[in-house]
Amino acid sequence: MKIQVVQGNIQESTADTLIVNLFDDVTTPAGATGAVDTALNGAISELIVHGDLTGKVGEVGVLYPRGTIPAKRVLVVGLGKRGEFDLEGVRKAAAAGLKRARDLKAQHVATIVHGAGVAGLEAQAAAQATAEGSLLAAYQYDAPKQREDAPHEIDSLTVVEFDKKKVKAIEQGVDTAVAISDGVILARNLVNQPPNVVTPTKMAETAHIIAATHGMRITVGGRKWAKEHNMGAFLAVAQGAGEKPKFIVLEHNGNREDLDTIVLVGKGITFDTGGISIKPAERMGDMKSDMGGAAAVLGAMKVVGALNLPLRVIGITPCTENMPDANAYRPADIITASNGKTIEIINTDAEGRMVLADGLVYAGRYNPKAVIDLATLTGACVVALGSGTAAGMFSTDDGLRDKLLAAGTAVHERVWPLPLFPEYRKAIDSDVADILNSGGRFGGVGTSAMFLKEFTDYPWVHLDIAGMALAEKDNSYIPRGGTGFGVRLLVEFLRNW
Ligand code: BES
Ligand code: MN
Ligand code: ZN
Repeated sequence: MKIQVVQGNIQESTADTLIVNLFDDVTTPAGATGAVDTALNGAISELIVHGDLTGKVGEVGVLYPRGTIPAKRVLVVGLGKRGEFDLEGVRKAAAAGLKRARDLKAQHVATIVHGAGVAGLEAQAAAQATAEGSLLAAYQYDAPKQREDAPHEIDSLTVVEFDKKKVKAIEQGVDTAVAISDGVILARNLVNQPPNVVTPTKMAETAHIIAATHGMRITVGGRKWAKEHNMGAFLAVAQGAGEKPKFIVLEHNGNREDLDTIVLVGKGITFDTGGISIKPAERMGDMKSDMGGAAAVLGAMKVVGALNLPLRVIGITPCTENMPDANAYRPADIITASNGKTIEIINTDAEGRMVLADGLVYAGRYNPKAVIDLATLTGACVVALGSGTAAGMFSTDDGLRDKLLAAGTAVHERVWPLPLFPEYRKAIDSDVADILNSGGRFGGVGTSAMFLKEFTDYPWVHLDIAGMALAEKDNSYIPRGGTGFGVRLLVEFLRNW
């Protein structure tokens, strides 16, 4: 779907479908909705009077202009209560309108910026949210199956603004939204494609395209390279993998050591069978999403490049499968990570923390102001916070934690703080090595975070996104499947750094 901004009256638009909006307390619409109402000889007001249009959240009224204006149809999206309206309300309203337009097989859609008029939100932010809600709702995973019933796609979306003074800001908001949505969609596509397609090699190819497009330095290390870097933890997981492992490093402004450095690390298990500690068959296929952290990092790096952020940003994604195999690592193995710490394996299904250990050690070489890792790390996190609710957040730096909390709230990719209690460290004490790779069932999310902490020596945030990378059902602008969770959060955090 193409998107553009024009100045003018939306009722004069030649789009086939117009999208306007309504708060739940309105009896006589004002602004753009009012202008359309007048052009339709009061058809919107009439529906309000009869109670057929209430402006509640999720409502989309459909009106037929019968020749009064060029458009074929007008959609009136409910914004709900004025006092509860925010940028998330804008995204949801945009998504509701867009999805109804798609259901009605619209080709050319024109929309106003939700929230920039009477609601008084800042024009640029409201435009960004309108465009993001629309673009992300329009996304449909293009499964490579032979089918007649290809889903309908809207050809173009025109954002119409009457106020000349706001147009520049709206254009900026829309441009930002396009860059961000492209990153989210990249991450969604990586998660949605099957694990025999999205292999570590495919992850590396994707990273190469990002590097070439945005002039980033890229390093892709294989087994030999990882061995040279003493990455025993990463290699242990990769040992049983038929697919070649790839340790990927993308550098934006890599040689600009004058800039603040932020490192993003993403767990890139392209398929997690559990290894020798094999998972049950039921729903194992969901573990194609176990590279959701790496997908978010690659998506965020793409956006960082597109927006050319004035920071030194490093993206690290250790990618491998976790397979049971004659060569696979086993429970009771003792492994040495790249910082020299020894790890006693008690469960090969706790593989994410293994690959992250070497990823986090590698992050240290950039002398970072902050390192953020994202990982579909534990089922325990999903038990604690729910599926699709919030990511678990652990941090060794209160300022950093607060920044991520704020960024998550702003973009509605929520993160919630969980504790790094010293008891969790005791649970992973080993008799024969420096640390155990699993603390067992109780406090599983905290013990996994405490494990990772052993491999950090800089301000650090760990985000457990196990419940967030894959959505079971459609929800507003997040369709079922890969969510791209983390991309918008990271970009918001970096833009506000
Ligand atoms: N990738 C899984 C965690 C996961 C579970 C992600 C559900 C998404 C949804 C991870 O590698 C794993 O298997 N974790 C184990 C850890 C345990 C062995 C200590 C878990 O959560 O059971
Ligand atoms: Mn696992
Ligand atoms: Zn895993």
